[in-house]
Amino acid sequence: MASNKAALTASGRNRVEWASTRMPVLNLIKRQFAESKPLKGVRVGGCLHITTETAVLALTLKAGGAEVCMCASNPLSTQDDVVAYLNSQGVKAIGFKGESSKDYYKAIAEVVAFRPKLVMDDGGDLTNSIISADSEALGGTEETTTGILRLKALEKAGKLEYPVIGVNDADTKHMFDNRYGTGQSTIDGILRATNIMLAGKVFVVGGYGWVGRGIASRARGMGARVVVTEVDPVKALEAYMDGFDVQSMDAAAASGDIFVTATGDLDIITERHIKRMKDLAIVANSGHFNVEINVDDLEKLAVKKREIRAQLEEYTMSDGRRILLIAQGRLVNLSAAEGHPSEVMDMSFANQALSAVYLLNNHEGMHNKVYDVPREIDENVAKLKLESLGIRIDRLSERQKKYLSSYESGT
Ligand code: NAD
Ligand code: ADE
Repeated sequence: MASNKAALTASGRNRVEWASTRMPVLNLIKRQFAESKPLKGVRVGGCLHITTETAVLALTLKAGGAEVCMCASNPLSTQDDVVAYLNSQGVKAIGFKGESSKDYYKAIAEVVAFRPKLVMDDGGDLTNSIISADSEALGGTEETTTGILRLKALEKAGKLEYPVIGVNDADTKHMFDNRYGTGQSTIDGILRATNIMLAGKVFVVGGYGWVGRGIASRARGMGARVVVTEVDPVKALEAYMDGFDVQSMDAAAASGDIFVTATGDLDIITERHIKRMKDLAIVANSGHFNVEINVDDLEKLAVKKREIRAQLEEYTMSDGRRILLIAQGRLVNLSAAEGHPSEVMDMSFANQALSAVYLLNNHEGMHNKVYDVPREIDENVAKLKLESLGIRIDRLSERQKKYLSSYESGT
């Protein structure tokens, strides 16, 4: 048992160190934090996917003087070696891959009991638990689109108890993480779970927001024939002009080889779609919650179910068709693969670290609302990322600035 723990910790250390080599912006912030200790003595409670990249964030907060306690933001996204390593480094990390719903909420309750001053959430579950407890939270940050929707609903209901910064909405977060991060890691999850060939396959993407766009473009890059489904006419038109086939899910259901949902909405794939699917159709989700594919409908229609590979379940219908579900309909990129690459999490988590300090310093003048990441932070993250890549860009001259802010000069 002890040697198993030591092996897990060593594996976690190696993998976190590897991720860290790809996160130059967060490492720069870590060095600055280690000197100025902006979070000295502050309890930070997190509910985040416990990955190697999250570990680099947690260690950055700790370097800034914070005490950190975190749980997983999904029952299947925890990397057990990272949990072991974080605990060996004085960060309390709770959770394991494959935990039950009961374990998941028990871990959240432990973070609530830690009485965080700052709350770092991914999806809104920790925030929801904290506001119904007697909390000392001064402020929070939220990592994902679905979490921001839930927090805005709380704000509207007058139930948000502290200011929250919606990290997802920073340009240096959703334009890169949601699009390119999820685009790549979703394909990674599907391939690890199935080892299928994508070239030539009909690949149906539900939703053409930031995540859907990324998945559709990466699937096309692998040679798949991509179909997009949408409810927003503008997004549907955008998908069409980006060169994708746009159909209703009812129409796409019969022709798809692979289906991936990425809407943040529920019931994208239900009984009536499953009934039309081909034998061996593969179904997966990359949206935050496991509600996009109605797994209860799949269970109800199936006469037989078996795990055929890790994170791949085969459901046999009464007419003999087999439908394959990846990772129980939970986020495929974090459940069947390792989530986004470190390079892109570098920017998301730089926004998290800097927003945490901003909240600590400014919470008194803020209201119980969802705020955007301050523009200076967002632009600074982009500048630092460009610098780390050795990319120089042009600067506006004084003449150009004047021209761009004037109305006088025309043809
Ligand atoms: P978004 O708001 O940019 O896009 C969602 C799109 O889905 C919109 O265009 C919307 O019109 C469409 N949509 C809504 N209901 C639909 C329906 N019934 N049928 C078809 N389309 C529908 O959001 P996003 O940033 O792309 O995020 C999507 C989901 O992915 C959220 O749940 C978010 O939290 C999650 N997310 C997951 C990861 C990950 O690592 N897997 C990363 C980032 C975001
Ligand atoms: N969300 C998506 N990918 C992630 C990662 N690698 N770490 C933490 N959260 C993530």
